[in-house]
Amino acid sequence: VRTVTTIAELRAMLRGVRARGDRVGLVPTMGALHAGHLALIDAAREHAQCVVVSVFVNPLQFARGEDLAAYPRNLDRDRSLADERGVDILFAPAVEEMYPAPPVVAVTPVASPDGDLPLDARWEGAVRPGHFAGVLTVVAKLFNCVSPDVAAFGRKDVQQAVLVRAMVRDLNLPVELLVVPTVRDADGLALSSRNAYLSAEERARALAIPRALGAMRTAWVDRGVTDAAALEAVGRASLRDISGVTVDYLGVADPERLAPVATVAVDSVALVAARVGRTRLIDNIDFGPPRGTGRA
Ligand code: PAF
Repeated sequence: VRTVTTIAELRAMLRGVRARGDRVGLVPTMGALHAGHLALIDAAREHAQCVVVSVFVNPLQFARGEDLAAYPRNLDRDRSLADERGVDILFAPAVEEMYPAPPVVAVTPVASPDGDLPLDARWEGAVRPGHFAGVLTVVAKLFNCVSPDVAAFGRKDVQQAVLVRAMVRDLNLPVELLVVPTVRDADGLALSSRNAYLSAEERARALAIPRALGAMRTAWVDRGVTDAAALEAVGRASLRDISGVTVDYLGVADPERLAPVATVAVDSVALVAARVGRTRLIDNIDFGPPRGTGRA
């Protein structure tokens, strides 16, 4: 893997790649790479001859008091994982390279003309005001630096994927998006760089999160419960008695805008965010078809 830290160097390298007629795939990350990121790299590889992984802990998407300073950083480890996975270019800019001056222009979700709330008004966006404007702004900047043909994002951050898809559509960005299924540890915990914050005991408690989502899916698949409020009650009940786990939100939404639904459908999404000790974890699942309607 070739590591570059400046936008000029990156663009020069990619000019050569395009001159050969190769397609470029981008995997935007904040580093601390894990198997979830490796799945994104593999997905990008299926669509591009040259895979670029960006490693940039974006200050714009952290609010004051969040874990910007503590966020795990280990570029040497990221580089060797990227290298082993066959990544072509690792783009690891300093903050000053991405933000040479404090930004005064940003990409911000807006309310839709049909009166629905902005896509960042619910779930993660409601708990972390300004977070998604920070994400969209840096993703737009990374798209401008790399001009990728395809870019891969994880399904674990489902609201981020929905917002990036909307940005690509609304700003006519010439990039194809790949949304890659969540990778989980054998015990069901969704992989996240923030899992590194968990003690062994907290990690065991955190398993209540995928269990709650699983209980919601089981109630729909096996018992035919379609009422979203009833399914939310099932999820909350399985998290209620776990000490040290506090739910920020848990709900059922449609997959396009993540607006809450009253009745579950095959493509509905269950989303949860919970704090385990001082660590915030998010997860989601889709419901899939109920038993007897084609589920294997
Ligand atoms: O998902 C992430 O790691 C970040 O939000 C992203 C997309 C790299 C933007 O900083």
